[in-house]
Amino acid sequence: MGDDAVGRLEGKVAFVTGAGGGIGSEICRQFVKEGARVFVGDIKAEIAAAAAETCGDASVALAGQVDVTTAESVLAGLAHTVQAFGKIDILCNAAGGSTPQDARVTDAPDEEFWRAIKLDLYGTFLVCKHGIPELRKAGGGSIINFSSMVALMSMPERDCYTAAKGGVSSMTRSMAHEYAPDRIRVNAIAPGLTLSERVRHLVESRPEAKATLDQCLLGPCEPIDMAYMALYLGSDESRRVTGQIYAVDSGVTIY
Ligand SMILES: NC(=O)c1ccc[n+]([C@@H]2O[C@H](COP(=O)([O-])OP(=O)(O)OC[C@H]3O[C@@H](n4cnc5c(N)ncnc54)[C@H](O)[C@@H]3O)[C@@H](O)[C@H]2O)c1
Repeated sequence: MGDDAVGRLEGKVAFVTGAGGGIGSEICRQFVKEGARVFVGDIKAEIAAAAAETCGDASVALAGQVDVTTAESVLAGLAHTVQAFGKIDILCNAAGGSTPQDARVTDAPDEEFWRAIKLDLYGTFLVCKHGIPELRKAGGGSIINFSSMVALMSMPERDCYTAAKGGVSSMTRSMAHEYAPDRIRVNAIAPGLTLSERVRHLVESRPEAKATLDQCLLGPCEPIDMAYMALYLGSDESRRVTGQIYAVDSGVTIY
């Protein structure tokens, strides 16, 4: 950007969870690059701090420990953000993910079902529940949830994660309707297999994941591909877009 250029998110404040991870950290970097100030929140304080450092100094990227499955922690993270930056315009719920313990329903451990529901679905619910009042105070805003290609197509051996991400997609649509009068837009990104560190390891241990990678029509997705979609959804360029689930998946879900 030149000195006179205005960033696509100039003046906006974003609260990003899972921000130490592959996709979340890339979103934070791109958001700051486009003029936003960002709360870089992750359950692991040290990786949140490391990610924030890659974005800029504390005047634009504030690292914080936040556990999205605990209301107290979410409230503390939101309060910290408002204290530092004065308001919140964007909630980006990137905390989540599947594990190798996931399986078809007859084989999956109950603990894995509740882990996925608690992190991916309840975590999104909690951040929205407590973050929406801040977006209202700011006069509106954008919520960017993270669904998955598993919510758009059948993918064997992932029934716990699939259930959780299906819930995120459905909740995204209903929330979009409910909060439109508050000028709050709610959309979700449904990534295809995206080569974050976690997924690179998963691909090594799960042959079906490797098979999905081979189906990518345009090559495997990288975290930057999700960040570009998040930029669009966070910016006013998408001002008439709400309730949508955007597949960014190199064409995998059109098979
Ligand atoms: N990478 C993919 O292939 C892919 C595909 C579909 C959907 N997604 C979704 O995209 C999002 C980001 O995925 P990623 O690949 O960057 O994962 P990642 O594992 O690299 O990052 C996830 C981050 O969330 C953090 N986290 C875990 N539990 C948390 C909690 N309770 N509170 C706050 N933070 C917590 C982790 O510490 C980690 O830094 C997730 O919601 C994931 O389900 C990813």
